[in-house]
Amino acid sequence: MECHGLIATIEHPELGKLRVRTPTPYDKPLIERFLKRLSEETVFHRFFRRLRGTGEIVEKMLGGKDTLLCIIVERNGEVVACGELYKTTWPDVAEPAVTVLDDLQGKGLGKLLVMLMAHCALKRGIRRFRAYVLPDNKPVMRIMAKLKPALIEDYGDVLLYEMKIDQAQSEINSILDSWNIKDP
Ligand SMILES: CC(C)(COP(=O)(O)OP(=O)(O)OC[C@H]1O[C@@H](n2cnc3c(N)ncnc32)[C@H](O)[C@@H]1OP(=O)(O)O)[C@@H](O)C(=O)NCCC(=O)NCCS
Repeated sequence: MECHGLIATIEHPELGKLRVRTPTPYDKPLIERFLKRLSEETVFHRFFRRLRGTGEIVEKMLGGKDTLLCIIVERNGEVVACGELYKTTWPDVAEPAVTVLDDLQGKGLGKLLVMLMAHCALKRGIRRFRAYVLPDNKPVMRIMAKLKPALIEDYGDVLLYEMKIDQAQSEINSILDSWNIKDP
């Protein structure tokens, strides 16, 4: 599996054909539309605040100085989910973020994106993920549970978790396998 360009084409049992790929600058309008279609709740869970504009975020996703990777899921020419990986102060630790369009949540796309990012991160020598999460975010807790998580800091309204992705390679591979995504 490549971590650049077209990563996979998937036939989802409910959603049909999905293209999983890294974006190009031409995808800016698609990503902008994706962000504008998100509900307030989804925006809050992802960004911990309301969005005043989308321009800065889209630029960051498409290759800001701290962006290690961005993967989008495309369905019928629209972006329906997006995962990003950001640098931290440690070279072997990265911060993942993932967002799925409201109507398509709960269908496996978030977990798929996190596992793809973990797989690609490991290839680059990243060993751990650190993520800030709202305590009520059950789907994220379930995804993190597959990646050897440890609670690092409880800020009350936000929790900071660390995941030892280098110790979760079999979990990562088995989830990617279930989508028929294999490493050559
Ligand atoms: C969090 C998010 C990315 C998860 O993606 P998703 O496609 O909805 O979730 P998935 O279908 O991959 O499910 C992941 C796990 O959560 C579980 N899950 C999904 N929805 C759930 C819900 N409402 N309550 C409890 N568990 C849930 C799934 O069963 C699965 O667990 P399992 O593999 O152990 O069965 C998505 O819901 C989202 O975009 N939320 C808003 C933004 C956000 O919170 N981003 C994360 C912070 S960076």
